[in-house]
Amino acid sequence: MAFRLSHLSLALSLVALALAGVAIYRNTYDAMMNKGLLQNVSPDFGLLESTASILTLNKNAERNSDKLNQQLTPEQCVFSAVRGVVDSAIDAETRMGASLIRLHFHDCFVDGCDGGILLDDIAGSFQGEQTSPPNNNSARGYEVIAQAKQSVKDTCPNISVSCADILAIAARDSVAKLGGQTYNVALGRSDARTANFTGALTQLPAPFDNLTVQIQKFSDKNFTVREMVALAGAHTVGFARCSTVCVSTNVNPAAQLQCNCSATLTDSNLQQLDTTPAVFDKVYYDDLNRNQGILFSDHELTVNTTTASVVTTYSNDLNVFLGDFAAAMIKMGNLPPSPGVQLEIRDVCSRVNPTSVASM
Ligand code: HEM
Repeated sequence: MAFRLSHLSLALSLVALALAGVAIYRNTYDAMMNKGLLQNVSPDFGLLESTASILTLNKNAERNSDKLNQQLTPEQCVFSAVRGVVDSAIDAETRMGASLIRLHFHDCFVDGCDGGILLDDIAGSFQGEQTSPPNNNSARGYEVIAQAKQSVKDTCPNISVSCADILAIAARDSVAKLGGQTYNVALGRSDARTANFTGALTQLPAPFDNLTVQIQKFSDKNFTVREMVALAGAHTVGFARCSTVCVSTNVNPAAQLQCNCSATLTDSNLQQLDTTPAVFDKVYYDDLNRNQGILFSDHELTVNTTTASVVTTYSNDLNVFLGDFAAAMIKMGNLPPSPGVQLEIRDVCSRVNPTSVASM
C-alpha cells in the first residue's frame, strides 16, 4: 500500500514538474523570441501539454478506480467477481445459466449446501457425488465455479468465501440473467470435507418419481407442496439429455419431444424442458397445463388438484411465480450441512484443503 502511494505521489510530482517545466520553458522561449534571441526553433508546446494532460487524466482515472475499489465492501467485491464470471459464461453459452441453477439445487438437496457436489472423485480412494447417477454426465458448470473462486481470490484479498457460497451466488445471478427475479444471497456457508454418493441417489428427486415420492423428498427438506411446485419451475430453463427422456418411465407419454429420442441411452442430444429454454418465464407451467411437460415428474404436478391449482396460479401470473421461486431459492440456499460433518473454506473447490484444520 505504502509502495503504491509512494508511486502515486512520485507520478503526480512528475506530472506537476512536467507542467511547471512547460510553463517555465514557454515563458523563457517567449521572452527569448521577443528579444530576437531565438529563430527557426519551434518546440511543439501543444504536444508537450497534451502529453502532460494525458498523464494527469490517467492518474485521475487510476485514482477514481482506486476509490471505487475502496468503496466496495469485501462482500460486494465477492458478488461483483462472481457475477462477472457467471455473466461471461452465460454470454458464451446460455444453457450454462440453467446448469448452474441445477448445480446449486443438487448441492443443497444432498446433505445441505456444503459444496459436496464440487469435490472430484479420486480414483481408488474417494467417490463423491459427481459420479452418482443423478449427476453423472449430467450436472454441469463445475469449471465456471472454479473460475469464479479464482476470480474472488484474485480480486478480493480481504475475504475468504466458501465454494458453497460461490455456487449460491452463481445460481442467483443465473436466475436474474435469464430473466427471473433476483434475491439476496447471505454468505457464510462452509464446505464439507466429504461428499455423499449414496445421498445423491436417495435424496434427489428422480424424473420417474410419482407425486407422492416427490412430495416426500421435498418435505424431508422442509418444503411445502407449493414451494415444491415453485422450485420445479426451474425447468423453465435448460435441457434434458435424450438419454434421460428416451427412457419411457422418465418422460410424459404425451410430450411431443423435439430431439431424436429413438436413439440409444448414450445419446447426448438435448430436449428442451419447456418451449422457451433460454428464458426464465412461466411457459413451463403453460406447457404443463397443455399436457406438454417433458419429464414424467413434471407431468405428475398436474394430476392432483392441490399441485394442479398451484400450476394454474403460476401460469396465470408470472410475478407470483417469480416471487415464490425467489423465496424458495433463499430457503433452499439455507439448507444446513449434515450434523457432525467436518467443514472448512476450501481453497480449491474440487478438492479438500491438504493441510486444513477443519473448523466445526
Ligand atoms: C421433482 C423434482 C425434479 C426432478 C425429478 C428433476 C429432474 C431433472 C432431470 C432428469 C433433468 C435433466 C437431466 C439430464 O438429462 O441430464 C433436469 C434438468 C434440470 N433441472 Fe431438474 N429436477 C427436479 C427439480 C429441479 C429443481 C428444484 C431445480 C432447481 C431449483 C431444477 C433445475 C433443473 C434445471 C435448470 C435443469 C436443466 C439443466 C441444464 O440444462 O443443464 N430441477 N432435472
